[in-house]
Amino acid sequence: MGVVQLLRFAFVVVITCQFGAHGKVRYDGYKVFRITPRTQDELKWMQGVADRWETLDFWKHPTKVGRPVDVMVSPAQQLDFVRSASRPGLEITTWISNVQDMIDREAAEMINSKNEVNAANFDYNKYNTYEKIFAWMNDFSSSHSGVSMVQVTTTYEGERVYGLRIAKSPSATNVAYIQGGIHAREWVSPATVINLINMFVSNYGSDDTVTSMLDNFVWIMVPVYNIDGYKFSRIEDRMWRKNRNPNTGGCAGVDLNRNYDYEWGGASKSKCAQDYQGTEALSEPENSGSKAFLQSFGSNLKLFIDFHSYGQYWLYPWGYTRFDVAHPDKDEQNALAIKVENSINSVHNKNYFVGESGPDMYPATGGSEDFGYGSLGVKYSYVVELRDEGTFGFELPERQIQPTAEEIYAGMKTLGQQLVAEYA
Ligand code: ARG
Ligand code: ZN
Repeated sequence: MGVVQLLRFAFVVVITCQFGAHGKVRYDGYKVFRITPRTQDELKWMQGVADRWETLDFWKHPTKVGRPVDVMVSPAQQLDFVRSASRPGLEITTWISNVQDMIDREAAEMINSKNEVNAANFDYNKYNTYEKIFAWMNDFSSSHSGVSMVQVTTTYEGERVYGLRIAKSPSATNVAYIQGGIHAREWVSPATVINLINMFVSNYGSDDTVTSMLDNFVWIMVPVYNIDGYKFSRIEDRMWRKNRNPNTGGCAGVDLNRNYDYEWGGASKSKCAQDYQGTEALSEPENSGSKAFLQSFGSNLKLFIDFHSYGQYWLYPWGYTRFDVAHPDKDEQNALAIKVENSINSVHNKNYFVGESGPDMYPATGGSEDFGYGSLGVKYSYVVELRDEGTFGFELPERQIQPTAEEIYAGMKTLGQQLVAEYA
């Protein structure tokens, strides 16, 4: 074989390995290691490992002593990684022995419903395609009074990002904003926002709390913020997180949750990293467009929530630093989050960790919660990690969509009561 043929052969092998038979990126032999630091020293060590292995996919970053770190590692990197993460006394366990098996199992469980797509028989307990979600938004808005579609921004690939605008009372001026699906692979996030919309609208008029929430606020709820990424995660790469900006010269994708404009600039500069921040603050149309949209409400905007998965956290600013930097609304943000968590907990007994995102989770610049609070001036600005705590991670089974939505709905009612009491 000549050099050219050899190269071509190698090229074909690489391509087929990566994209498999169905044009999908495969994760054969990829493992997820779980490492739980038990001392401050071990935590520091793990943070060092994460910094050295910047382009590895940390499903769960090092946060606190006692909290697990989950990291996905390709077969080719496993030996090196384990060698470089090892130190006496630190236990490295294989949490998932083959990620592809998990993806296959999930795909087998998600037998597509053959239902006609309309609001009446849309399946709320499925991870639906973007096309189905879009059709549902159209149907749902045209079949419910006071509900309409509103364009929030545009994606890199030119999709219009829509929210459902729920405006039951013509006199309501205050606005509450909720978004899901900023990270592509976190499928329970869009599913939860969709369910919340349905629960809000169908309980209007019968549940007093929901009725007053909808009478006193215009709710704008975006199920899928990162449409390009969401589609890609369904068709090509189940573990895709970022948007689909091709990033001239390097890997594709900007982490939209590092691209907002409050304290932008401390996240990864590597295009191949999962938390690549982009070339400048608001470089991505998803971010810049939604900022313009949300700014147009001025001080009427009273709530900003960004739903992610997984880990079960309810977090408030600041996110950009691991230091506890004072700001005047922290106590109120915390107090409300604790009430919300109590309501969530009372439904299915799931605990959500309440805290300040930077110090209590890990620092992340250009993130949504800081954008909501720092750039938009919304006091109640939260970033939420939905279920679970790592058993299924991103591949939360569809049977958990409903219980997740139920507990978050309870939390949202508690939150809504506060909004009404304070602003209505
Ligand atoms: N896990 C999400 C992310 O990495 C949420 C981050 C929350 N903010 C933070 N500063 N930890 O984008
Ligand atoms: Zn996320």
